Amino acid sequence: MSPRLRHLTTLEHLPRASVERLLDRAIALRDACAHGTRKLDTLAGRTVLNLFFEPSTRTRTSFELAARRLGADVINFDIGFSSTAKGEALYDTLHTLEAMHLDAIVVRHKVSGTPEELVRHAMSGVSVVNAGDGNRAHPTQGLLDALTIRQHRPDFENLVVTICGDIRHSRVARSDVHALAALGVGEIRLCGPAALLPDAAEFPQCRYTEDFDSAIEGADVAIMLRLQKERMAATDLPDEAAYFRQYGLDQRRLKRAAKGCLVMHPGPLNRGIEIADDVADGAQSRILEQVANGVFVRMAVLAELLAR
Ligand code: CP
Repeated sequence: MSPRLRHLTTLEHLPRASVERLLDRAIALRDACAHGTRKLDTLAGRTVLNLFFEPSTRTRTSFELAARRLGADVINFDIGFSSTAKGEALYDTLHTLEAMHLDAIVVRHKVSGTPEELVRHAMSGVSVVNAGDGNRAHPTQGLLDALTIRQHRPDFENLVVTICGDIRHSRVARSDVHALAALGVGEIRLCGPAALLPDAAEFPQCRYTEDFDSAIEGADVAIMLRLQKERMAATDLPDEAAYFRQYGLDQRRLKRAAKGCLVMHPGPLNRGIEIADDVADGAQSRILEQVANGVFVRMAVLAELLAR
């Protein structure tokens, strides 16, 4: 049996058994809380702090919902109105908050490696959960994407998954590859303009291509990613109309994929740049299922780390 986790900072090197246990637990908690209509007391008396240094709609809200549904208290730390704005160091903020007896810190930060830094500097038994650091990891997104795929296509070894877009700057792509490789997905294709693909050595198990028409051919799952403008130099930004022509998922391209191909996107969507409206809102779109699964996956992670 894989050991219980103390922190969740990345899915890299996480054994298949741990990934599967978290996905199974997400489904068990979904059923136990009757899809959110029943509150549980699994984490009664525990306190979870949301510490977001970058904007978020889905991740922050779903961590809050997840913690509350498990009976925990939640603090949403407002960076803009905190002493961070007066120059307080991250570790002083951490130790100040720890002195108030927190059980978990959910952190998002633009600097890759910040969650591990917090793990190294945490003085007490606080657990750290990575809600996205730089371009490195977004482990709960990787888990919720894997869960969404498993609900429709549990035969992972037969699947072709195409991830298309700005993969170089994407923490989602990295955590998706780590989760899907751990679960034994048959073929993972990474597609985008050369400047937006990761180094070839980073994912030797994946097929790299700049040609979206061939990357989508026969794919069972298409995960579309936005251009991460906040992590690019202005001079590197592609022309959006040209980008959509080459890398946008529209109905014509979707027809090249396998029948029933699952269309996924972690959000936020940039419609008309990486995905057409009628594909994002179409019958094959699983985008809102991903959002719903985010709450159950985050419940599973918090329960794994904190349940007594
Ligand atoms: N997928 C994702 O991380 O979305 P948010 O930035 O809205 O949290």
